[in-house]
This record gives sequence, structure tokens and C-alpha cells, in this order.
Amino acid sequence: MCGIFGYVGNKKAIPIVLEGLKTLEYRGYDSAGVAGISQGKTLFYKDKGKIGHLAKLLEKKRLEVEAAIAHTRWATHGKVNSLNAHPHFDAHETLAIVHNGIIENFQKLKSDLVAQGIAFVSETDSEVIAQLFAFHFQGNLKQTLLKILPLLEGSFAIAGVHRNFPKDIFVACKNSPLAIGVGESEYFVSSDVNGFLKYTNKVIFLENHEIGLIQPSGLKIYNEKGEIVAKQTESITSKIEEISKLHYPHFTLKEIYDQPESINRLFKNRFEEEFGAICLKDMGIDEETFMETSRILILACGTSWHAGSVGAYLFESLSRIPTQVEISSEFRYKNPIVMKDTLVIAISQSGETADTLAAVHELKAKGAKVIAVCNREGSELSRLSDHTLFIQAGPEIGVCSTKAFTNQVVLLSLLALHLGRMHHLSKEEGIHFIREIKKLPGLVSEVLSCADEIHVLAKKYNHFTHFFFIGRSYMYPTSLEAALKLKEMSYIHAQAYPAGELKHGPIALIDSNCPTVALFGNKHTFSKLLSNMMEIKAREGPILAFAPRGFDEVSSIVDDVFWLPDTCDEFASIPTSVALQLFSYYMALERGCDIDQPRNLAKSVTVE
Ligand code: M6R
Repeated sequence: MCGIFGYVGNKKAIPIVLEGLKTLEYRGYDSAGVAGISQGKTLFYKDKGKIGHLAKLLEKKRLEVEAAIAHTRWATHGKVNSLNAHPHFDAHETLAIVHNGIIENFQKLKSDLVAQGIAFVSETDSEVIAQLFAFHFQGNLKQTLLKILPLLEGSFAIAGVHRNFPKDIFVACKNSPLAIGVGESEYFVSSDVNGFLKYTNKVIFLENHEIGLIQPSGLKIYNEKGEIVAKQTESITSKIEEISKLHYPHFTLKEIYDQPESINRLFKNRFEEEFGAICLKDMGIDEETFMETSRILILACGTSWHAGSVGAYLFESLSRIPTQVEISSEFRYKNPIVMKDTLVIAISQSGETADTLAAVHELKAKGAKVIAVCNREGSELSRLSDHTLFIQAGPEIGVCSTKAFTNQVVLLSLLALHLGRMHHLSKEEGIHFIREIKKLPGLVSEVLSCADEIHVLAKKYNHFTHFFFIGRSYMYPTSLEAALKLKEMSYIHAQAYPAGELKHGPIALIDSNCPTVALFGNKHTFSKLLSNMMEIKAREGPILAFAPRGFDEVSSIVDDVFWLPDTCDEFASIPTSVALQLFSYYMALERGCDIDQPRNLAKSVTVE
């Protein structure tokens, strides 16, 4: 979603912020802009379209500023056009601000300012911050921020420059992340630490209600009372090399191919095979928490919710612990009941998803213990939760989640086995499951080695405009994820159902123009799924099956089969999902879609 980047230091600020914006491109955006102060004037350039377009505009202008702020906008309030793009200004252009988040009471604040004779130029909620700032400004940046921030309802990360302070950037945040990169006599401001990793891995995270004043010579952070806060500088371990496409045409394809390695990374030092045990000691969660858990509540959105839904089957089957999985945006408004001994697991690749953060805030306020399952070090979710289990997938740049999904499912499998062994699984069962799970990187590699076969299938099926995806048990959430991948990457309408539900209504849509992708990875329900296939065939629906090798009966019924390497039902989601990620990728490739940055989507959904 929207991205903020800022720079103060001795180097040329504009090229640095443009480069910084490029690293945030993957978050999804529709317009971009920069601003800085030069010779007592606020200078800015902004337009709809890509950063490359902005860079071309700036080439001609030779903009020299000492501090610069920049932004990529993902439209929420107002159309995609240059007026609505950030930065925003006050009526006299004394300052410029960029903003992530949503100011929920902007209409009221705006009409109060309009009543004072202040003219607005954009349709955005963000402009009100600039206008309000100028209205209350009496010469002091900090005092002005202390005055206006309590007036803003909603969420915000703000960076700004003021013509009276050409070397300063001011920053503030509430429920929207903002990180400050600390270099040698230079500072970077970014909504995402990846933005400045090229320059420094030293970072300060701004907490809710904190204000920062940044100059090349130093940085001061204040709390909401205006008192100085002593902040710790943290070191980030991600490396810049991890954020490269290498020889792949798309980040998404690279990330699909990363999966054997990313699963292996997660496996390192996790198995005590002779005891049938999983080792999670280093993750810092005391065994008592696990022992006392009698109920699990999983919260997440999108792909992470699908991973959580596979996790719910795993916790119930392997750990025998009742598990509820909820979409964060729905859960939050249910006035949730938090029972004693409930372990809350909040799953988020980015750790920035506003809906999940809001649900976690709600639960923390009710006294719940929250474990985050997250990919991003230093993310807001990780800082908010009692513990974080990192999925170690490495940076995921493609907007469509692939390797994060598999590592989320693998991590939940390890956790389910660990809890299972504590509660009821025998040592022999533990050994059996460890042997199976350890095969996963090899099985994923096998699937990847058959990518060409999947490409051939995509060439055959890419002209269809509606698809059903069906599966039973573990294959139902797997089909939800597969359908989401197809929608996101190829813009083809796809809907997932538990296979048994088809006959309760959706079957009305089956005909020769509506193919079904059937996921056979659950052997326990194999014969039931075969009967569902007969029902579809009776209505002339084309069927593409993804089935484990050896289940030859499938091929006599369906039109096409991709044969998957066999594993136990519990872990079949992994090879199946990888095959379906490739299917969506090739479908999108055949249709000429923007695979890494699909239209309308954002990598980190930072608004509710
Ligand atoms: O960062 P998160 O895991 O919290 O993100 C949740 C969803 O926004 C995300 O999974 C989204 O559905 C992706 N576009 C899936 O590919």
C-alpha cells in the first residue's frame, strides 16, 4: 500500500528518495511524488503513474534540496490523479507532508478549516494534516505536532518538511509503521526497512504517538507529552541480495522456486527425530504456555488466513486442541470472547496488516496472550505480540504471497506436532510425522521440476473466465488459496468450495465453459471426491485434477491430471499449493498480466 521514504544528510536527497521509493514499489501504488525545501520554497513534483515517470519529470528539473520526502500512493480517498497524489501542502505551500493510513475524521476537520476560509485542492483525507499543521503553526515544529496529532482520528505515519527548517524532516505515527534508518551523519525515513537496507541496517522504530525531528546532525524523539524518549537502535539481519530477482523474469517466479530452500531454513535445528520431538526452545515461548493451552484462536487476512485455516485442521487433528480461525476484519467487530487458556496466533507475512493489528490490539486489551507468526523482523505485529515465531521465508517482493504461505503452513505444522506430542501423540507417531515433514523440500523440488507440464496445462485452460476450485479436508483451505492466487495473478474469476458443498447450489453454474480444478491431496476423502467428479462430468464440466501419483482412477474421470508426489494428508497442502502457484503464474503469463504487481493490489494492506 502507500509507501513513505525520506532522507536527510550530506548526499543529494532526490536520487536517494527516488531509489528508496523504488524499493517500496512492490507494496502497490498508483501515483508517486517528492518534496523538499530549496531557497526558502517548498518544491514538489507528483503525478499518477509509476516512479519511472516521476523520475523522468525530475530529470528535467534538477531539484536540489537538503532534505526530501517521497511517497507512493494507493488510492483510498479520491481518484488516481496528480492532485490527490502526495505530498500535500497548506494553502501557502509553507510545508509538505506525506501520509500513510486514514484520517477517519477528516471531513469534520476539513469543514472546520474551510469555515475559516482555507481552500482545499484535493479529495484526500491526507491534505487536512498539512492544512491543520499550517493553521496551528507558530514557529515550532514539535509544538505544532503536539497540538494537531491528538485531533487526528484513525491511523497515520507522517513525514513532513517545512520551509523555515530546510534541513529537518518531522515524523509521527499512530497505528501505521515508520522506521528511521541511522547512517553516518544521515538518516532515512521509511515505512519499510527494506527501503534503506542498502545504506544501513541500523534502525529505530517509531512507536505510536511518538514524534521525531530529524536533521543530519542528530535525531530527537519525543512522546505525546513532548518529553524526550531515549530510543534503542536495532540491527536488521535481512540482506539486500535477498531483494533481487536474480535470473528470474519475475519476483513471483523466483519466490516460488525459493521454496525448497526457505522450508529447509525453517527446519534447521528443529527436529529431535529419535524422540519424535520438535524443538522450539529458541523461540522463547515457555512450555507452560503450551501445556496450559486448551483452545487456539487464529487471526489473519488473505493468504495468511488460508494458511491459518490449514493450521486449524492441523491443530485439531495432530494436537487435538479445538481451534477457531477468524478473518481479522470480521473478528474485531464481533466483541470477541476471550477465554482463559486460549492461545491466540496472529498470522501476517508483513506484520503490518491493519485489520490483524487492530484485532490483536483488541485481544491484548482483553488480556489475551498473543503469538505472532510473521515474516518481517521488527514489524509492528511482532513488536505488539508477546512472542513471534518467524517463518524465515526471506523477503517476499511479489505482491501475491507464495513462499510465505508455504512457510506459514510448515511453521504451523511444526507447532501442531509440538503441541501434539505434549498432549497426546506417541513417540512413534511423532517420528512418523517428522519423517514425512522432512521430505517436503524434496517434494517441492519435484513439483518445480515439472513446471513445463503445468505451463502446458495453463496454455490449455487460460481462455476460460470462471473456475471452481474444490477439495475436502486440508484440501479445502488449499483450494481457497489456489483460487485466490488465480484471481490475483491472472484476473480470472475463481471460487473455492468444500467439494461436498458444490451440490448445495454452485453446481448450477457447471457447464462446458466452467472448469473445476479438483484437489485430490486428501486420501481420507478420496472416494467422496471421485463421486463429486462424476457429478461435474454428468454436467459436462471440464475437470483439471491435481492428484497424488498412484491414484490412477482419477484419470479415467477427469480431463487432465497433474500428478503430485505423495505425502500424508496432513502435509499435502504444501506440494499441492506449489503446483497451483505455478499454474496461476503460467495462466497470468499467458494472459500478459502484471504478475509481480497485479492491478489494484497492495503488498501490505495498512488501512482497515
Ligand atoms: O501481510 P499479511 O500476511 O498480513 O497480508 C495479508 C493479505 O493482505 C495477503 O495475504 C494478501 O491476501 C495477498 N495479496 C495474498 O497473495
